[in-house]
Amino acid sequence: MGKTVIESGRVLLTGASSGIGLAAAYLLTSRGYAVVGTARDPEAVLQRLTRERGAPPPFCLFKMDLADAASVDAGFAKAEAELGGVDILINNAGQGELGSVEDTDPAESRKLFEVNYFGPVRLCQLAAPSMRARGAGVIVNLGSIVHELQFPFKAQYCASKSALTGFSLSLRYELHPYGIRVHVLEPGWVRSAFHDRLRPVIKPGSPYAARLKPFLDFSRDSDPKIPDGEAVARVILEAVEDPASPVRIAVGREAKTFFLVRRFLTHGMQDRILLWKLAKKGDGAPL
Ligand SMILES: NC(=O)c1ccc[n+]([C@@H]2O[C@H](COP(=O)([O-])OP(=O)(O)OC[C@H]3O[C@@H](n4cnc5c(N)ncnc54)[C@H](OP(=O)(O)O)[C@@H]3O)[C@@H](O)[C@H]2O)c1
Repeated sequence: MGKTVIESGRVLLTGASSGIGLAAAYLLTSRGYAVVGTARDPEAVLQRLTRERGAPPPFCLFKMDLADAASVDAGFAKAEAELGGVDILINNAGQGELGSVEDTDPAESRKLFEVNYFGPVRLCQLAAPSMRARGAGVIVNLGSIVHELQFPFKAQYCASKSALTGFSLSLRYELHPYGIRVHVLEPGWVRSAFHDRLRPVIKPGSPYAARLKPFLDFSRDSDPKIPDGEAVARVILEAVEDPASPVRIAVGREAKTFFLVRRFLTHGMQDRILLWKLAKKGDGAPL
């Protein structure tokens, strides 16, 4: 299959401070792309990376808080000025969730949607005009397996990632005639700081408290069979460079197997499998 390195390789990559985004920033830079990554506290990230790796990162890091619309606009303008244009937009930054719908503050749910959905949507809006004018561009959005396989206590997260997938699938038809590709990556579990960052939301006296406990076990983060940030970064690179990449890209053995098997399962069968898995974790409440 012929791989094409797109001629202009100016990348805006959100969430470049850790996990998938950090690995992608190093990988893309090493392949000759000019990368501007974003983080909420770029100075602290620069210091940490310099300390840990013995040298400052070979890519720029600018401030962007996706929960703040003004910060998204300002961060994009700064990145565009630095790069001279954005050819490749990678909407990687995202926030997880662990809490029942009843216990979760609606303001927190809105914030989660700003970070996981409205922020990426705004960046697509900002990046599209100049990509369209150049007749080329690539947008890679980080979705998740949760678009197809939903878990309890992550309702808003599932909804926000499903929204991003639906948005991406529609947007690609709009942008395709102008030479702009849109891809959505759908990983299963990835080894990263993502799970450590989760702060369980449990109201005092919550009936969900005991049921949430099994979901606090992130021991899978040390399972070498689960892809890490570097593995996902390689899939991002492939999506960027290979025009034949599919629009939806399952990432990791777990997600690939699920999407394959999913075709042959009714929702009832899928429910029974998931409930059996949840029961093994200690949450066996029947539907
Ligand atoms: N890990 C998984 O199992 C998994 C599975 C499927 C999909 N994903 C998706 O993959 C993407 C990357 O996750 P990861 O595993 O690499 O997790 P991670 O290590 O926690 O990285 C998350 C990144 O998002 C940034 N971020 C968080 N909140 C933000 C905000 N309000 N504004 C701007 N940036 C923000 C963080 O930057 P700062 O905190 O420095 O600002 C960080 O760079 C996410 O979209 C996630 O939903 C992850």
